[in-house]
Amino acid sequence: MSRKKVTVVGGGFVGSTTAQRIVDLELADVVLTDILDGPPAGKALDMMESGPITRTDSRATGISTSTGDYSATAGSEVVVITAGFPRKPGMSRDDLLKANYDVVKAVVEQIVKHSPNCIIIVVTNPLDAMAQAALKVSGFPKHRVLGMAGVLDSAFPFPICYRKNASTPSSSVRARAARRS
Ligand SMILES: NC(=O)c1ccc[n+]([C@@H]2O[C@H](COP(=O)([O-])OP(=O)(O)OC[C@H]3O[C@@H](n4cnc5c(N)ncnc54)[C@H](O)[C@@H]3O)[C@@H](O)[C@H]2O)c1
Repeated sequence: MSRKKVTVVGGGFVGSTTAQRIVDLELADVVLTDILDGPPAGKALDMMESGPITRTDSRATGISTSTGDYSATAGSEVVVITAGFPRKPGMSRDDLLKANYDVVKAVVEQIVKHSPNCIIIVVTNPLDAMAQAALKVSGFPKHRVLGMAGVLDSAFPFPICYRKNASTPSSSVRARAARRS
């Protein structure tokens, strides 16, 4: 059966978890990419091997883009960009601006070449600036470039804090994220 294809760029903490969730929920086949050689392939293999246990038929492929080859991502419907540097203690999200701009720009240039009709979801911080960079570099219309944040902001004050005090099951708490245009 042919499934939708999602590429997750950056196979670190956020990217690996994103890929794992998509595969486990059988939302799409996933291509996980990273500048590193080895880890993406190993993580994808782990996901495939756990498929019979988690009962998913989604396929995971891990590739290194250290040579600049993004051909394995071709035809993705959605591309999630988590590549870049995370904050270190004492750093603000804005401290990441220049380093992560270079990463996001290079990634988006390749993604656009191979998946010209995709939707880009940017996760890399500083989020608003990186989403804006992806919008400009891709040349996509704005409804196809999204920044993902606020899930943490919604989740933390409500389900997590509330549950700590009230032992309420998270299934009975609803969090809502608003969109800024
Ligand atoms: N928007 C949000 O809500 C949110 C939440 C958490 C983290 N973040 C941000 O997401 C980003 C990733 O966080 P993380 O904790 O997964 O970091 P991480 O260090 O675990 O993973 C980042 C990965 O990106 C890879 N990478 C670096 N340059 C690359 C390139 N040019 N191409 C492909 N891969 C490349 C690194 O090798 C690394 O594996 C950070 O910028 C972080 O601040 C955003």
